Amino acid sequence: MLQIPIQHRGIILREFTDNDIPYVAKIAATPGFNFYALMPSTATRAEIEGSAARFVHYAQALQQVTPDTQIRECYKLAVAEVATPEKLVGYVALDEWSESRGEKRDIGYFTDPAMQGKGYATLASVILLEQFFGATTYEYVHATVHPDNTPSRKILQKLGYQATGAFTKMVRGIVEPRITLSLHKDDFYAATVAFRDKTTDQNLGKLPARPGELNHV
Ligand SMILES: CC(C)(COP(=O)(O)OP(=O)(O)OC[C@H]1O[C@@H](n2cnc3c(N)ncnc32)[C@H](O)[C@@H]1OP(=O)(O)O)[C@@H](O)C(=O)NCCC(=O)NCCS
Repeated sequence: MLQIPIQHRGIILREFTDNDIPYVAKIAATPGFNFYALMPSTATRAEIEGSAARFVHYAQALQQVTPDTQIRECYKLAVAEVATPEKLVGYVALDEWSESRGEKRDIGYFTDPAMQGKGYATLASVILLEQFFGATTYEYVHATVHPDNTPSRKILQKLGYQATGAFTKMVRGIVEPRITLSLHKDDFYAATVAFRDKTTDQNLGKLPARPGELNHV
């Protein structure tokens, strides 16, 4: 069981509250922003606000421990700066993957477009995965990514993910390609040692250089 909130290097991973709904709606309404669980920025204001409310309420509904495993099926967490914890910067999650395939845990994230490129999604993922691998017996987590999603592919590479395959998916009536990737916890520990070092500086935007050119993705 992970102890939420989690703080590291100036950012905090905390539970979602209703106060986050306007922030999520603002992020979703930013032109060009695209995240599967939120209505696209081209939708109506009411549709975007509705999807933001559903998104936050779903995250809140999943703040439960599963009795047999004593861990949560999902961690859908808000990302903020420690200094302004009420102001949502982004989202990071370990979702259930596919029961039918016998695989679990799929990482997900988004960052407010106004705050992108500063290392938030990378660091939030490192923090969540470190806590998750440390607190459970899971050896692998997974991911899917659109081949053109360069920022996300860069993050997955830095986390130590390795590509495992590809599939196509219907997204709002359109067939889209996806790459599948997996991350063994040992690859994660090896790839992210510099990010997990708690002795280096606290400044976002000054994250250490990537630990190695892994070229896994
Ligand atoms: C993917 C996403 C979460 C990245 O968030 P972020 O906080 O900007 O991520 P980071 O700052 O940790 O940066 C990730 C990498 O992408 C790069 N990057 C960020 N924005 C970029 C852009 N617009 N174009 C190209 N590269 C970009 C960063 O420079 C960084 O690479 P680097 O370490 O080589 O410099 C964000 O782009 C987003 O919210 N996208 C929409 C939702 C989404 O696609 N989620 C993932 C689904 S698989």
